[in-house]
Amino acid sequence: MWKFTTSKNSKLNPDEMVLDADNIPCHVAVIMDGNGRWAEQRRLPRSMGHKAGVENINKIVRGASDIGVKYLTLYAFSTENWQRPNDEVSTIMKLLVEYLRKELNNLHKNNVKVKTIGDISKLPKPCIEVLQESKVKTENNTGLVLNLALNYGGRADILYAFKNVFADYKKGKLNAEDVENLTEKDFSDYTYTAGIPDPDIIIRPSGEQRLSNFLLWQCAYSEFWYSNVMWPDFTVEYLYKAIYDYQNRDRRFGKVK
Ligand code: IPE
Ligand code: IPE
Ligand code: MG
Repeated sequence: MWKFTTSKNSKLNPDEMVLDADNIPCHVAVIMDGNGRWAEQRRLPRSMGHKAGVENINKIVRGASDIGVKYLTLYAFSTENWQRPNDEVSTIMKLLVEYLRKELNNLHKNNVKVKTIGDISKLPKPCIEVLQESKVKTENNTGLVLNLALNYGGRADILYAFKNVFADYKKGKLNAEDVENLTEKDFSDYTYTAGIPDPDIIIRPSGEQRLSNFLLWQCAYSEFWYSNVMWPDFTVEYLYKAIYDYQNRDRRFGKVK
């Protein structure tokens, strides 16, 4: 059973699985991986794995929101995922559209704010439309920010930021000296995640231990958490276990204590 404590100095007891309510990661990022293998293990087509994967999103959103996570970034489609067979790509896109159409009212009722990172202009039109509608509808919500990484790549993100800096320079918003003196913080404000703090923890189910081009700039001091469970089987218990482990790590940020 997971319990919560509000005491700042409370010791975490592994038998009780107590989560420290004062040390909940502000930004949790998840690489939703393993849909295909989940399906293959069941002798189902990969599309069924993607369906189960999308259906899993809701309970993780709720679980994160319940304990006060502020930002939940979900890696749903990478810049490299376009290289998959066309029918798989269109299935994933259709499932995302269906998910948002079906769940938007619910997300809104739960005060969730929908955002995206990545170049969504390259997504199919229905996808762009429902994302736009979701963003507008939930714009003023103050609860969990559900940040969907779609056609997202960490390298593309860094390049996007660089081009945004250059655009501001051309417009005269920045002069040569401003560019020369640009800080890491300034640069962060030109990335897709502008205004969002760096992820405290990056979770990857499915057994792979790599970033696959996710949040390369932003992950400088993120904690990494891996599990062999496939994304469609990733439950709130796994999320809380990841956060429990996070709370037992010593984040030093290069300093000494
Ligand atoms: C993640 O599951 C979904 C996307 C990348 C869109 P996969 O489809 O990568 O599942 P595996 O890795 O083949 O099991
Ligand atoms: C990463 O998973 C991308 C998403 C989950 C959206 P992939 O399945 O695409 O990554 P690789 O190919 O295993 O590195
Ligand atoms: Mg995969």
